[in-house]
Amino acid sequence: MKVLAIESSCDETAIAIVDEGKLISNVLASQIKIHQKFGGVVPELAARHHLSNIVPLVDEAFERAGISIEEIDVFAATYGPGLVGSLLVGLSFAKGLALALNKPFVAVNHLHGHLYANMITFPKLSPPFLMLLVSGGHTELFNVNSWDSFERVGKTRDDAAGEAFDKVARLLGLSYPGGPEIEKLAKKGEVKYSFPRSLREKGNYDFSFSGLKTSVLYFIKKNPGAKKEDIAASFQAAVVDSLLSKTFAAAEKYRLKDIVFAGGVAANSYLREKAGRLSEGKYSIYFPPIEFCTDNAAMIAMAAYHKAKRGEFSPLGTNAIPYLKF
Ligand code: KG4
Ligand code: ZN
Repeated sequence: MKVLAIESSCDETAIAIVDEGKLISNVLASQIKIHQKFGGVVPELAARHHLSNIVPLVDEAFERAGISIEEIDVFAATYGPGLVGSLLVGLSFAKGLALALNKPFVAVNHLHGHLYANMITFPKLSPPFLMLLVSGGHTELFNVNSWDSFERVGKTRDDAAGEAFDKVARLLGLSYPGGPEIEKLAKKGEVKYSFPRSLREKGNYDFSFSGLKTSVLYFIKKNPGAKKEDIAASFQAAVVDSLLSKTFAAAEKYRLKDIVFAGGVAANSYLREKAGRLSEGKYSIYFPPIEFCTDNAAMIAMAAYHKAKRGEFSPLGTNAIPYLKF
């Protein structure tokens, strides 16, 4: 079974093709440069660029896979969560192809995609495991019982971790997206300042990052001479500490030995390194390679392939759902 999937929920237009669950093509057009000058994603611009990127990108995906469009058995696309205009471009395109070629269509929840990103790199990984999903819009802990059944055991009460990285980056005068910029700057600094770690009480697996962001804001105002590098390192340490203390506590509580990381923030090298150190001898940790942590279509194609194998097809009337839950 060959599946072509389109991901266009935010500012990356991405196409991937999997053949019996094996990735044979994976292409992406990033819009970072377009949105950078506005300090964040401009929804209207994102939708317009998806529209102009999508046809050449689909052609490129077929060229790389060395197959023709008639060989595709299933067309798939992300239908939420995300920016409605952006989602509609990929979704309508995939549904249009399915209709024109009389093939089935599979709608994929973007967050399920982040889960399946691990399947691409770790084919032997099998549930149950704990998953920390940390992206620009989500910070959630899941008890994954099987590939299609999960229970949420913790979530952010305000900002997502990626959102906190992006907002603090702006306070430090760094460009969008803020996560990689803070990571780069932090490498040149020291963890000198103690920023707050919220919701520390035992048995609480929720997160909160808005107090941390405010505390960085006040710190910068009060200490104009402090080095940006040290602020970045101290902020990053506070986020990573919060994420990992909750994650390892939840793994212990639910007696899970495998911990999986997903989403853009999982690209962070300090998080990866510290998780590695804390897990030693007790837990197995799984980080997808960076290209599969941040948004991509390979993860959507993988999720769609497994949905199709389970017979979970979607009607062509499926609409975009901007606030779709996990
Ligand atoms: O999963 P993703 O690509 O898109 C969403 O679905 O949100 O995540 C994007 C988020 C952004 O907030 C970005 O700043 C953050 O992931 N991010 C990072 C790093 N790379 C991306 N945060 C910290 N360190 C990184 N290296
Ligand atoms: Zn994402």
